[in-house]
Amino acid sequence: MSQNKLTARERIESLLDRNTFVELDKHVVHRCNDFGMAEKKIEGDGVISGYGKIDGRNVFVYGFDFSVMGGSLSAANAQKIAKVQDLALKNGAPIIGLNDSGGARIQEGVESLTGFAHIFKRNVMASGVIPQISAIMGPCAGGSCYSPALTDFILMVKDQSQMFVTGPNVVKEVTNEDVDKETLGGASVHNTVSGVSHFICNDDEEVLMTIRELLGFIPSNNMEDAPSYPITDEVNRVCHELDNVVPIDPNVPYDIRDIIAPICDQQYFFEVQSEFAKNIVIGFGRMAGRSVGFVANQPNFLAGSLDIDASDKAARFIRFCDCFNIPLIAIEDVPGFLPGVSQEHGGIIRHGAKIVYAFAESTVPKITLITRKAYGGAYIVMNSKCIGADINFAYPTAEIAVMGAEGACNILYRKATTEERKEKIEEYRKKFATPTRAAELGYIDEIIAPCDTRIRLIQALDMTRNKNESNPPKKHGNIPL
Ligand code: HXC
Repeated sequence: MSQNKLTARERIESLLDRNTFVELDKHVVHRCNDFGMAEKKIEGDGVISGYGKIDGRNVFVYGFDFSVMGGSLSAANAQKIAKVQDLALKNGAPIIGLNDSGGARIQEGVESLTGFAHIFKRNVMASGVIPQISAIMGPCAGGSCYSPALTDFILMVKDQSQMFVTGPNVVKEVTNEDVDKETLGGASVHNTVSGVSHFICNDDEEVLMTIRELLGFIPSNNMEDAPSYPITDEVNRVCHELDNVVPIDPNVPYDIRDIIAPICDQQYFFEVQSEFAKNIVIGFGRMAGRSVGFVANQPNFLAGSLDIDASDKAARFIRFCDCFNIPLIAIEDVPGFLPGVSQEHGGIIRHGAKIVYAFAESTVPKITLITRKAYGGAYIVMNSKCIGADINFAYPTAEIAVMGAEGACNILYRKATTEERKEKIEEYRKKFATPTRAAELGYIDEIIAPCDTRIRLIQALDMTRNKNESNPPKKHGNIPL
């Protein structure tokens, strides 16, 4: 357990700009008289709620107090939370939940369950309108996991916070499995295996500072742009360090973050979900003071191929950026979708379709840079021209083809001798292991030198600044889930 666990009130004070917190409903008490609850009424009833500022911008906040009946949700607590959710939505400001809660208050039965229904409904209505952020700062069960799951970002504290639908005791009763809280739903599990969480932090303070930083990249609501910052880095900075990042041998891996970070202002990249589905990298950066969202294949992990988890991770991030007017930059080095029985049976077709859907429906400025491999369906889905990218760049090292030369010739020339096949591989490589053919057809707008990446991307972002595109009117689309 972290030594730095703060009280619910200290968390809120630490999260917000100094002396800006205004508390609401501090005299509210629960209304349950069963199971001896009449004698257990505490002012505020285990949730602290209100509003304040982060970097001078309005935010709404609520925090559970685990010391009051395990932070369990009473109908009264739910009413307090719903009130700040309504205010946040009406006033176009982000809402932050600091969760430390055993879920529905068992003594209240259906009243506390209904409380979660009120919160969930508001979570869904606010989705895509105001940013919703959930910190998980202690054990959270049942509804106290599902509300965060409906929000945009989840942050957890290492060795201190857990999320599960049902706790270890219920698991033991139903499945006879012996499992402790941490193994069932600790921060490591949700940041590496399940992908439920987006950030893993060392203590409460780090969670709260990460929320403040995250908000700096995103607007207060879907009608605004993300805050822009004074340009403190040279817009025309030539990045010579990029000239040697992509290895000459196409089979040698490299870290795609060595391309992303140098092109960002101050060379700073704020990665999201860094420990989950490492074959795709997502996160925010600033270019010429403006927020951008990066979605990049990671050749260092599974050769950058797209699998089920990577598809889910990327699609959700793309949709977040699109909701909140944050331009997207796709950086591509992808040999294809990951082959295999477990992937096919797990539904890679359904999951992979989410990336196509997300890129194709998004109307924010969209730019693509192909650094090396852009093979097959993965080329198409990674924000290709005809999916709707505004500007497509490629390095001279880009290979845009249905598949790698060897794989292609092994299929096309199966019956040829080894010598003949070697010749064909060379021919295929010459023809397709370059960006030339795609550039001739206009699918690539410009072949650029790596050192010019920052300049070119900033020019493209500037050109698309006033982009105005909309999709056909509809109630909502039907993304494959
Ligand atoms: C009332 C609760 C409570 C709850 C905990 N407490 N959860 N009281 N309702 N849901 C109380 C405990 O009785 C205890 O009181 C105090 O909080 C601290 O709990 P501990 O168990 O001692 O803490 P810990 O060992 O850290 O375990 C935390 C926990 C565990 C893992 C969260 O308490 C737990 O499993 N609680 C029940 C979780 C649950 O099943 N919730 C309902 C989910 S259904 P004392 O007086 O002893 O200090 C739900 C419906 C929504 O939420 C569904 C949406 C789809």
